[in-house]
Amino acid sequence: MGKIEKVQSTKYLWEVPLEHKEYFNEVAENYEWSIYKHFSKGFPNDGYFKMNDYLAEVLIIKETTKILEIGIGTGILAEKLAHQGAIIYGIDYAEKMLEETKKKIPHANLYCCDIFDGLPKEIASVKFDYIIASFVFHLFIYEDQFKLIKQLIKNLTPKGQFILAGPAFANAEEVVRYQTENKITWSPDVYFIVFDLYEGTLNQMNLNSNFNIISPCCGFIIFPAKP
Ligand SMILES: C[S@@+](CC[C@H](N)C(=O)[O-])C[C@H]1O[C@@H](n2cnc3c(N)ncnc32)[C@H](O)[C@@H]1O
Repeated sequence: MGKIEKVQSTKYLWEVPLEHKEYFNEVAENYEWSIYKHFSKGFPNDGYFKMNDYLAEVLIIKETTKILEIGIGTGILAEKLAHQGAIIYGIDYAEKMLEETKKKIPHANLYCCDIFDGLPKEIASVKFDYIIASFVFHLFIYEDQFKLIKQLIKNLTPKGQFILAGPAFANAEEVVRYQTENKITWSPDVYFIVFDLYEGTLNQMNLNSNFNIISPCCGFIIFPAKP
């Protein structure tokens, strides 16, 4: 996977005006605590733990199953998948996040790099059974998300699957309904999953996708590498 020219570098994470990498290094140590405390109920992460539990339960994992997680963070999901026996590969540009993951999964293959620079050379030709991006792609504008997907699926096995998880809605009407009911809006600098919008573009890429709702504001799209 070669370097991807990023169209736009977003500046805000929720309402925090910090560059993302700097922000994630700063919050790494308290990241899990803050999810439990602030986000596990209600917007934006309502469904976060449910999603991790669900994925750990439904993914078919054998001793040889290789999983690459993009933006692995502190390894909350990856730890569950490792317990199921998966071989974990993780990428994150915040070294402090990776330090937390290393504590949980000492044998994980972790790489500190920006995903827009392509896969690190050590894993450039590895084929994965699953590539997961959970609660991370919303930081990238839609155009960039699709560029990444197009590149990353080349590293899936023929039966491999890509899982895009995070804040998610079925369509634009659902977004409006959710915002109205909860009297909430969000920064224009986050690009949540709106399945309708993704489905068309994924279809054009010959990728048949499915949308799974986990909570009123979270879900995941899953699609195979090949039609
Ligand atoms: C909101 S956290 C989610 C972490 C984890 N996936 C989870 O569900 O808890 C987003 C993570 O993606 C990483 N990240 C953001 N942009 C990245 C990029 N361009 N390349 C690599 N990692 C990135 C951040 O450092 C952070 O650890």
